[in-house]
Amino acid sequence: MASVRVSSGFYHVPQRPGLALWKAARHFLDTQRRRIVFQACPDPREKYHPTHSIAMKPFDIKLAQTRDAQYIAAMSRDHIEHGLGWKYQQAQILDAIRDADTNVIIAWRESSLAGFAIMTYQGFEAHLVLFAVLPADRRQGAGTQLIQWLIKTAEVAGVQTVTVELRTANTIAHHFYESLGFRQLESLQHYYRGVEHGERMALDLRRRVG
Ligand SMILES: CC(C)(COP(=O)(O)OP(=O)(O)OC[C@H]1O[C@@H](n2cnc3c(N)ncnc32)[C@H](O)[C@@H]1OP(=O)(O)O)[C@@H](O)C(=O)NCCC(=O)NCCS
Repeated sequence: MASVRVSSGFYHVPQRPGLALWKAARHFLDTQRRRIVFQACPDPREKYHPTHSIAMKPFDIKLAQTRDAQYIAAMSRDHIEHGLGWKYQQAQILDAIRDADTNVIIAWRESSLAGFAIMTYQGFEAHLVLFAVLPADRRQGAGTQLIQWLIKTAEVAGVQTVTVELRTANTIAHHFYESLGFRQLESLQHYYRGVEHGERMALDLRRRVG
């Protein structure tokens, strides 16, 4: 067993990621989440966003439940898959929620869904499958909170690289991932159903500090 240092002490993880590990890391982080999110925050009712000069209201990050699937699917259709057909419908999102090697998380604020992210894990790699924040809730740190949660989980579980694909034209997402330390790996010609170019970006967790 290897030891990973987290804010609250040491958490023991096996050398190789496996099914039980994902469950353990996920539940561990769920119970520790408030401490991680609020550790730099003087007022626990507000989240300190390091790239903003003002304290911002936090989003609540939780694991998605089956009842969330229809809303996540609709967000994917409207804000991610537009112009490409609708692949991630309710049934596919339900499969992801039930899959032991996948984390589906949501961001809530004032009892309404603001965003979601889906990450799958295989060996030492994690892949960000789908990710969106509703237009009204953008640029307020929800996307950062979602991805930081997934990155923290991946780190605890011993993942070395996080990858994501995005449309080449999606410069906002490119900036977003860059702001979190992702770098472009390669261009993907006609990647999106043969009609749109894409690119792959990656975050190397072995070189990440903090
Ligand atoms: C990409 C997306 C999830 C970002 O969510 P968000 O909650 O707005 O992101 P954050 O508020 O945490 O932004 C973090 C940083 O990302 C960058 N960023 C976010 N939106 C940006 C924009 N419109 N223009 C330039 N940079 C932007 C900035 O560096 C920002 O930090 P700052 O606000 O301190 O400048 C959101 O724009 C979205 O849902 N887009 C449509 C779906 C999509 O493209 N998904 C990704 C597909 S791979």
